[in-house]
Amino acid sequence: MSEETKVATEETAGAATTSAADSTTEATPKKKGKKKWPIVVGVVAAVVIVAGAGFWVWHEQPSFCNAICHTPMDPYNATYDQELHQTGVDKWGNEASTDAMLCVTHKATGATCMSCHVPQISEQVTEGMNWVTGNYVAPLEERSLEELVEARGIASEEFCLNSGCHVNDDGSVMTRDDLAQITADKKRNPHIGQHGEVECSECHKGHRASVMYCSNCHNDAELPEGWITAAEDKKLQKAFESGEAAA
Ligand code: HEC
Ligand code: HEC
Ligand code: HEC
Repeated sequence: MSEETKVATEETAGAATTSAADSTTEATPKKKGKKKWPIVVGVVAAVVIVAGAGFWVWHEQPSFCNAICHTPMDPYNATYDQELHQTGVDKWGNEASTDAMLCVTHKATGATCMSCHVPQISEQVTEGMNWVTGNYVAPLEERSLEELVEARGIASEEFCLNSGCHVNDDGSVMTRDDLAQITADKKRNPHIGQHGEVECSECHKGHRASVMYCSNCHNDAELPEGWITAAEDKKLQKAFESGEAAA
């Protein structure tokens, strides 16, 4: 094999053409050609699978996201690259407690970007096209939980409440009632739909400080360490919309 390769590279272009032509004539006899086909197909398939698997493994790494699309992904990787119990930065470049950002608290349990953002081919194609054509704003618009699961066709709560993520001690998938029990000691229990169900992402934020939504109206709603009030949230969003946000 290596002999042949060596020879091939040393040969002139003209000679290479001749040998290519030779192999074509050799392959022409019907019987020989038929026998070679399965091997060629097999080799091509193997190469595609191995390359694909390698790509998939790389694709699972946080580095993939900004290697491919580095400008818009940088702020997300920056939030993810932080450690717990620090005053860090959010995706807009504001100071934020790392304990109040889901990407950091979940990274501590081994989650990668892909654990939360389960890639769908359709989304990746669209995102790839938007990246190539420059059809995006940086920083990116914030996505709701509904938008994040749209392509997967699942209920928004399943982003968090599914057998691979939040389960009870007996292995059953957690419900809002189970969550309400965990936070039963809070003055305003955030997981009780007192005025109707509130989307998890109204409070729990992936790449910025989580927001105590109930403080929109209840001043006595407790703020966990590093969380922000609804009023602070409005200020941040305004800054983002007016383009004042860093990043
Ligand atoms: C614990 C789950 C989790 C992990 C891990 C995670 N994200 Fe997110 N991501 C979210 C949530 C939730 C949102 C919705 C917006 C928000 O809350 O900031 C989001 C939103 C996004 C968005 C959409 C734009 C936006 O601001 O809404 C991008 C892009 C993104 N994440 C990239 C990444 C990258 C890159 C990584 C890995 C470095 C990552 N995410 C890791 C949960 C996660
Ligand atoms: C109204 C705001 C709000 C909403 C909506 C909300 N949460 Fe929470 N959640 C909280 C607060 C506040 C805590 C307590 C956090 C702390 O003490 O650090 C909490 C804690 C949790 C915890 C426990 C984390 C731990 O300490 O182990 C989980 C899991 C959780 N929420 C999941 C969810 C899911 C899933 C949803 C949607 C079905 C949801 N939450 C909706 C505010 C909310
Ligand atoms: C849009 C404003 C608004 C939001 C947001 C809001 N509430 Fe309320 N809530 C009210 C009003 C108004 C009342 C009834 C007035 C009263 O009795 O104080 C009330 C009453 C309550 C009560 C009945 C006991 C009491 O204090 O009167 C509870 C419990 C409660 N809310 C919890 C919550 C929780 C938990 C959240 C966040 C998931 C929340 N609320 C979000 C406006 C709101």
